This record gives sequence, C-alpha cells and structure tokens, in this order.
Amino acid sequence: MPRIISGIQSSGVLHIGNYFGMIQPAIALQAEGEAFYFIANYHALTSVRDPNVLRENSRRVALDFLACGFDPDRGALFMQTDVPQVTELAWILSTVAPMGLLERAHSYKDKLAHGMTASAGLFTYPVLMAADILIYDSDIVPVGKDQKQHIEITRDLAVKMNETFGQIFKLPEPRIRAATETVPGVDGQKMSKSYGNTIDIFGDEKETRKRVMSIVTDSKPVDEPKDPATSTIFQLFSLVGSKDEIAVMGERFRKGGAGYGDFKKQLFEKLWEYFSPMRKRREEILADKLYVDNVLVRGAGRANEVANDVMTRVRAAVGL
Ligand code: TYM
Repeated sequence: MPRIISGIQSSGVLHIGNYFGMIQPAIALQAEGEAFYFIANYHALTSVRDPNVLRENSRRVALDFLACGFDPDRGALFMQTDVPQVTELAWILSTVAPMGLLERAHSYKDKLAHGMTASAGLFTYPVLMAADILIYDSDIVPVGKDQKQHIEITRDLAVKMNETFGQIFKLPEPRIRAATETVPGVDGQKMSKSYGNTIDIFGDEKETRKRVMSIVTDSKPVDEPKDPATSTIFQLFSLVGSKDEIAVMGERFRKGGAGYGDFKKQLFEKLWEYFSPMRKRREEILADKLYVDNVLVRGAGRANEVANDVMTRVRAAVGL
C-alpha cells in the first residue's frame, strides 16, 4: 500500500488555494494508500514570531483540515513537532546537501523578494521538508505547484544519501493536480498568505463577500464582451461551479451585457454554498472538546512508529 505524505504550514489561516491545491486532492488520496498528513509548525517558525499565535494557528489548521473531510480512521494527522526525529534527519541530510542546490530554491528567493529576513532556517527549509518526506518512506506527495522544486530537492538528497551510504531511502513522487496547481488570489497572483490576497476557507460571511468583491479586474464596461480565460473570477468559479454553471458563466462573459460585479456576486454565492457542509462539520468537531487532541495523539503514535524504524536504519547506515 503506497504511503502518501504532505504537510501544511501553520503560518496563518487556511485559504482556498490550500484547499484546491492540496487539501482536497490529499483527502481524496486517502482512498489509495496510507496517508500521513501533518501541521508543519517547525516550518511555520521561520515566519511566525508570536508563540501564542503559532500555537493557536497550529490547532486551528488541525481543526480545519478535519472539517475539510480528513478521515482519521484511514490515516494519521499529527503535529510535525510530535516527531522531533525529523530535525535529527534534517541535520544528517544537511551534511550532504550541496549549497548550490539550496541556493537555487525559488521559494527562498521569493520569500526574500517579499521582504522576509534571510535566516539559516529559511535557507535550509527544503532540507527539513526533505526529512519530513523521507522519514516516512513516502511514495506520493500531494502538493501545489509551488512545492514542486522542494520535492525535486528531496529526491536529490535521497539519491545523494543512497550513493554515499548505500540504499536507505525510497524516492518519492510529487502529485500535482494540473487543474488546480496554482490557484490565483484576489489580485491575480498565486494565492498566498504572505501576499495578503487570500480568500479563507472558513472566513465569516461578510469578510468572504468583501474579499470576493475585491477581486481585481480590467475596466471593461458592462456591455463589452469579456475573456473568461484571463479572469480570476472565472478561474475561481470553475473550482466551485458545476459543469453547466461554468459553461453558462463562460458564455455570459463572451456575450457581453453583464458586469464583473454581477459575476463576483455569483462567485461568492457558489463559494459560500460549496464550503457549507465543511462549516457544519467544523461546528460538530468544535462541540467535541477532545476530538482534535485525540486525533493528533493517535496520528503522532503511528507517525513515530514509522519514523523510529527509518531513523534506526539511517543511524546505522551513517555510523551514529
Ligand atoms: P504551505 O503551507 O505553503 O501550503 C500548503 C499546501 O497548499 C498548496 N498551496 C497552493 N496550491 C495551489 N494554489 C495556491 N495558491 C496554493 N497555495 C498553497 C501548497 O503547494 C502546499 O501543498 N513547505 C510546505 C509545507 C511542508 C510540506 C512538507 C509539504 C512542510 N513539509 C513535506 C509536503 C511535504 C508549505 O509551505 O506549504
């Protein structure tokens, strides 16, 4: 049975880019193997500096992930920090990681370009991520496109370890769903917590409407035909509408006679309806005070079993 692993940082609140890029495909993959999904709170420490905020975000990500439909009877959900062996493996991997490989990481350069301070943790972020993946003998890693290079780095490090110390690691495969590999934010760039352009999965109604209404468009007047292919509104609607509804909206774009404000209202209604069962599930989970904790404890137990086996193998292979 393939092992499927992925992580999500608790650096903020989950948005619909996270949902369509990773959460939904990852939850669907639970049917194909054993899922190990974790809240990447070590990674979040590269950007969050307030301990209360980090703790709260981490719990909230676990709750929201469960509300989105993760089935804890068919996989493990846990905090990254409940398997601290990953930091040991990250150290071991860092001793073979070529500087040039890390210097080429887009995500690092992108974070600096968006004003983050260059820290050693930010620079070695992909090494910890490689440890996250390799420590569970993972086969498949469902992610959005922005993580693709990180999986390639993981594979490079696994190969390097295997060449140096003998066969230790399996080579994981990224699984990126083409239709949702990069979900756009309200400004048309990739939706991202750090760009401030998100629509949250569990935002309140007023805020969600406001975010949708703030989607940036061109200035075509109502009468003029519009191009659905280049419209963020249409791209987001395509994620939540039915096939027929999407076709109708596309037609209305091309015909002219309807304004962007109209399309935004339609998008908001559809989005709100789409996430309604998950909001309901979230309320149910919240009513059971111990549910999330119990899931996390069970998940950490299973994750530790696998991680301890792999680490025994790694330590023996490298001479520790
Ligand atoms: P993070 O927390 O930034 O995002 C979590 C997942 O959501 C996907 N995603 C998107 N997909 C499509 N369109 C978007 N606009 C969008 N925004 C985010 C991301 O691709 C990701 O799959 N480094 C990882 C966390 C991590 C991890 C791991 C992932 C740590 N260790 C091991 C896989 C395996 C990250 O920062 O994801």
